[in-house]
Amino acid sequence: MDLHARRADSFGDQAEAYAEHRPDYPVAAIRWALEPLGTSEQLEVMDLAAGTGKLTAGLVAEGHRVTAVEPNEQMLSELVRRVHDVRALPGHAEHIPVPDHTMDAVLVGTAFHWFDQAKALQEIARVLRPGGVVAAMWNEHDLDSAWLAEFDRLSSTSVESQRQDPTGVMTHPSFGPVERRTFPHAHRRESPEALVATVNTHSRMLVVDDEERGAINEKMLAFLRTRPETSNGPFDVPLRTEVFRAVRVSE
Ligand SMILES: C[S@@+](CC[C@H](N)C(=O)[O-])C[C@H]1O[C@@H](n2cnc3c(N)ncnc32)[C@H](O)[C@@H]1O
Repeated sequence: MDLHARRADSFGDQAEAYAEHRPDYPVAAIRWALEPLGTSEQLEVMDLAAGTGKLTAGLVAEGHRVTAVEPNEQMLSELVRRVHDVRALPGHAEHIPVPDHTMDAVLVGTAFHWFDQAKALQEIARVLRPGGVVAAMWNEHDLDSAWLAEFDRLSSTSVESQRQDPTGVMTHPSFGPVERRTFPHAHRRESPEALVATVNTHSRMLVVDDEERGAINEKMLAFLRTRPETSNGPFDVPLRTEVFRAVRVSE
């Protein structure tokens, strides 16, 4: 298995830690993603690559009928344990297990970069009804925060982040123009250890060897235990949630 495939499939062994330590998504980002549908009615929404249900839970809380699709068995089990009132299906973005034109929206949280994007977009176009929306979103550290920018520098690994701007790929004959919006967000952490636990759920940490992971963990902890922003009890990690959306055009 190549490194990309290994990383895409790396989350399951830490599914419980993932559910515990990763951030959710701001409700304003979810609403903006769905805004082109122009209705406050209950929508048929898919959370594609749903993981343990971070985005799924936000969609359910907004009152939508939600189908969560996730290929990793451990991640999907964790989702089923934590999120109720959801249809949970095993499946990949490249072969979405629902019929044509049955979804009002397909949302993807922090996962679009793991897909074979051309195939996935073809599949997303197939399952959406005309006028439906696709939206991909990512939680990013807000690097206007000096302590966080420094923390990111010292926690980098020999394996790079995979995330790229998806505008080029999402510009596709089945979809209208790609729009982008950024939302402020925050992730409450109780202690330095909790933020280190979050970083350890990222694939770049999951696939490096124990020696490299151990050394980075020590550096991160030493930094967080001495910085005034993070060494005096609970603190917020400032995030920006970046959302890209496009509307399915008629055939
Ligand atoms: C970083 S997690 C994001 C999970 C969740 N959406 C969230 O926001 O927390 C990436 C997820 O993408 C899933 N994934 C990886 N490759 C995939 C593919 N080809 N199709 C669908 N999901 C995939 C992984 O199993 C993992 O659960």
